[in-house]
Parts: sequence; structure tokens; C-alpha cells
Amino acid sequence: MKTIIINIAEIIQIEDTPKELVRGTDMRKINTLKDAYLEIENDLIKSYGKMTDFNTSNKMYENIIDANNGMIFPTFCDSHTHLVFSHYREEEFVDRINGLSYEEIHQRGGGILNSAKKLQKTSEETLYKQALKKIDKAINLGTGAMEIKSGYGLNFEAEIKMLRVIKKLKDNNSIKIKSTFLGAHAIPQEYKKNKAKYIDIIIEEMLPLIAKEKLADYIDVFCEKNYFSVNDTVKIIKAATKYNIQAKTHVNQFNILGGVKASIDNGARSVDHLENMSEEDYISLTNSKCMATILPTCSFFLGIKYSPVKEMIKKNIPIALASDFNPGSSPSLNMSFVSSLGCIKLKMSSEEVINATTINGAYAMGIEKEYGSICVGKKANFFITKPMKNYSYFHYSFGENLIDKVFINGKIKSS
Ligand code: NIG
Ligand code: FE
Repeated sequence: MKTIIINIAEIIQIEDTPKELVRGTDMRKINTLKDAYLEIENDLIKSYGKMTDFNTSNKMYENIIDANNGMIFPTFCDSHTHLVFSHYREEEFVDRINGLSYEEIHQRGGGILNSAKKLQKTSEETLYKQALKKIDKAINLGTGAMEIKSGYGLNFEAEIKMLRVIKKLKDNNSIKIKSTFLGAHAIPQEYKKNKAKYIDIIIEEMLPLIAKEKLADYIDVFCEKNYFSVNDTVKIIKAATKYNIQAKTHVNQFNILGGVKASIDNGARSVDHLENMSEEDYISLTNSKCMATILPTCSFFLGIKYSPVKEMIKKNIPIALASDFNPGSSPSLNMSFVSSLGCIKLKMSSEEVINATTINGAYAMGIEKEYGSICVGKKANFFITKPMKNYSYFHYSFGENLIDKVFINGKIKSS
């Protein structure tokens, strides 16, 4: 089946030769084409070109769609989410407004432990249905690929249940999904005094079954004071490496413990959060192909510091931006807002933000060959915007929904 989109004001993030990732000052460049058409065959991008070269008498298309002077962007590649959970935590939001910190809420058994208690009691079927609705919301907001983590189970049954839900979501044939096992998200209440035992359960009980049933593409650890140490992190990453499962870790959100270097030394594909950075962290990232994944809506929502992205870019580090969608620190799937915060708070240029939310997000999930740009042969996942003067307006006009139509696998998503 062939579809043609005509009257496109500008196609954003075109790649003639596909890249693996973009780093440092190269992030300032994107390729675009003005006054264009785009051709789709089945689920793939077939060609694009200038409208002046398009022959309107051509009748081979099943579908002709008029972009009405909107722009085309590749869909967002959201490489860090915790999309499967059973309840939102707006009561903790109220507690924070009344003065408690995120860490204080965790210390008294709230936070991730609160989510785990509830998820343990929720059936696989219910979690699946809830997750489908959230994915639907994400697609309408322009997301065409996402990573989803476990980590609200915190015991054998519930972690496996979460990963099975994610597997079902993957097989559902809508957007591309990658799954990450985050058993080491918090220390369960019953192991507070015996963290080593819980780590043994992760390594000796959960991981072998997860590997056998291919339930996870990646392994994650929340490397943080009062959660998991650098030694714990290395132990868990090494155990997963034996099954060929690569790491994507939560590091440096509140404290610098050495988790960045340890993750990179152990082959991590991405290190995520990075609100706090040491000289050693910069050096490790500069000399690696590990993606620095920054989560500005988490900083916004918790009122914590924003990552020093400008400094990272100066040091030739590749940056991805992701939503961190979760009920505690970032209850939003809105990658347009993530993009605006990239410009407003991280001081990134529009081009840097576009690279960070598309091709670099794809790299952080290991799907850059098929997603992350408008490139012949890649998946036809993109959105058409409402008309706007230039692409920076998309980031400038925060809070406004400028997405008109979303295409997933070559088909219009009906909202
Ligand atoms: O990435 N920091 C650890 N994990 C999540 C928050 C999880 C939660 O609060 O439920 C994050 O921000
Ligand atoms: Fe997270």
C-alpha cells in the first residue's frame, strides 16, 4: 500500500545516510527539506522530495494526504519510562506541596514502595489494560517508540508480572517498545535490613527466568544513597551481562557515588538522570558511546536541579531527552513539553533538542537503524504539525498542542 503526503511546509530531521548517534556540537545540526512531499510504502518511508518535482497526475497512491502546510517531524523516541504502574500518587504530590521532600516520602515507606504495594495486588490483565490506555495517550502526544521499565514489583512474582505485561505490549503491534528489568529500583521493606538477600533474589531467581523467557532487553539499577550502591550496581550489571543483557542505569539523581563510571566500564548503553556531575563523570562519558539521558520533567516536577547539559555538549557527550514517565517524579508523557524544557531550562537549541528526542533516544534503546529520523527505509513513524512559521515555534510555544496527525507504521493513528 502506497500513501503520499503533499504540501509539507518542512520535513524535519532528514537523514540521507543513517547515523548511529549524534554527539557534542554536531547536535546543533539537523537536515530539513522545505515545500516537500513524503511517500510511504506499507510501514516504511519510501521517498521524499520537493513538491515542485511531484507529479499530481500520478494515480498510483491508495492514499493522498494533504499536510496543509504543516511540518513533519519523526515521532519522539522516549527512551526512559516507567509506564506500567497501577496507581498515580497525587497524594504524595500534595505532601510535597506541604513541605515534604521526595526522599522524605520514600523514607517513610511512600514513593516507589507505595507503588509496589499497590502493583503487587493488581492483576496482569488490569495492568495491561491500563498500560494500553497510557500508550494510546503517548502516541497522541507524538511518541512512536518507548522503553518501559519494571521496578514496581520488587518481588519475584510482581517483577515477572510487570515484564510479562511489557512483553504483551510489545506484541500488540503498535509502537516499538523495549523492556528493561529494574528489580533494583528500591529495597523492599522486608529486606531493609538484608539488602544482600534481595540482590541475591534478583540475580539468582529473577534474572535466570527473565533471560530464559526473553522478558528484558536491558537491566537497570537505581544507584543512589539509601537505594543501591556502586558495588551493588556493578554486581547486578555483571550478572545480567552473562545473559547478554546490557545496562541502562539511574545514576547521579541526588548524589554522585561513582555510578556513571562504573556503569560505563561495565558496558552501559545509557546512563540516565545526571542532575549532578563530577569531573570523572564527564571524562567517562566523553570517551564512551554511552548515551547521557536527561529527564528535565523530573527536575521540573520535583523542583530539583537540572542537568548541566550545555557543559556535556561542550565536552562532546551525546545527549538524549526522555520523559521518565512515572507516578512519583514525572507523571507526564508529553515529549513536546520535555522538548520545551530542553530549550527553556537546559538551554539547548531547537536542533539539539530534536536530535536528543529522536535519533539519540533511538540509540539509547538500540533501535537507531529503524527509528529516529526521516530516512528512506526507516519506519514511517512521524507526525504532521499544525502550520507554524519555523520549527523553533514548536519548542517556544510550550503547553500548546501543535501535533495534528500521528503516523505509526505508515498508518494514521485515529485519536
Ligand atoms: O526515575 N529515581 C528513580 N525512579 C524514578 C521515580 C520512581 C517513582 O518515584 O516512582 C525516576 O525518577
Ligand atoms: Fe526513571
